[in-house]
Amino acid sequence: MIEKPMIIQELEEIQDTALEALKKIENEEALQNWRRDILGRSSAVMSVFSNISQHPKELRPLIGQVANQVKQTLETALLDRSEIVKEAAILQKLQDEKLDVTLPGRRPVTGRYHPVSTVLRRIYAIFADMGFQVHRSRDVESDLFNFELLNIPAYHPARDMWDTFYVEGEGVVLKTHTSPGQIYAMRKNAPKPTRAILPGMCYRYEQISARSEIQFNQLEVIAVGKNITFGDMKGTLNGFVRRLFDKDVRTRLRPSYFPFTEPSAEMDVECFVCGGKGCSVCKGSGWLEIMGCGMMHPVVLQNGGYDPTIYSGFAAGMGPERISMLLHKIEDIRYFWGNDIRFLEQFR
Ligand code: PHE
Repeated sequence: MIEKPMIIQELEEIQDTALEALKKIENEEALQNWRRDILGRSSAVMSVFSNISQHPKELRPLIGQVANQVKQTLETALLDRSEIVKEAAILQKLQDEKLDVTLPGRRPVTGRYHPVSTVLRRIYAIFADMGFQVHRSRDVESDLFNFELLNIPAYHPARDMWDTFYVEGEGVVLKTHTSPGQIYAMRKNAPKPTRAILPGMCYRYEQISARSEIQFNQLEVIAVGKNITFGDMKGTLNGFVRRLFDKDVRTRLRPSYFPFTEPSAEMDVECFVCGGKGCSVCKGSGWLEIMGCGMMHPVVLQNGGYDPTIYSGFAAGMGPERISMLLHKIEDIRYFWGNDIRFLEQFR
């Protein structure tokens, strides 16, 4: 019985400690390190092969055999461990990324239309059905278009109807109403007939209160052609109001004054809070004012490029904020441009 060569004992020890260490390995990175240290090119086990010639000839086969066995044992153990580590990693991943498909989803916060946009869109739709086109015009306007061409000469007392923001520069104003658009729209079409609505932001140098803002929308309605009568205006506006509010709502035309229309009127709708009996909203009158209107003044038709002896037309102007206030019973116009999210969120 020959004594076991030292090297064989060493190999067995290496194998034991390596297997012991392997059992404790939990992750892929540690596995790779173990492989490099134990089975890598410069590891103790592998150097036995390269240094085999240092051993006596008769011992070399035995040493080689044992070294091979050790190497194989370690390789198989590594494969087994690697399986276990991989499986554990998958389980861990499943655990960490568990998805509860029964949880109700989180609703994304969506934007909404501003109440004035909603009203404007409804108005557009109604007039579009009647063949009206939408025209847009500028916010900064010349005195000429805002007043002069609309039959409001400088120093005419009618200018007091509009508290005007004057912009730096000669005769430059922020438009006080959408009526200047009448001239642009007519000049574009004359002498062909014009049927248009003109929405836009208007500005007035006024004390801000529950009923008046310095900035608000208006929407102008115009129709110009041959044989257009006051009756056409009444029919068109009544049709519009009934579609906007209610098919049975009553309206009335009240004489009024505007420099650019003759005759001029104010259209009222029956108060839908009290049904015409009189309440605080209609200030006891039973009626709510919703727009100014009238037959286009010959001077305005002329300035728009139509011969007033051949053509006639009507115009009307309304305030979408006011209409929205009536529709939703909003009692303060300042809410519209106050940007209070609690107000805006109420409109779906
Ligand atoms: N432009 C007028 C205003 O701002 C309203 C109006 C428009 C009246 C068209 C008659 C015709 O008060």
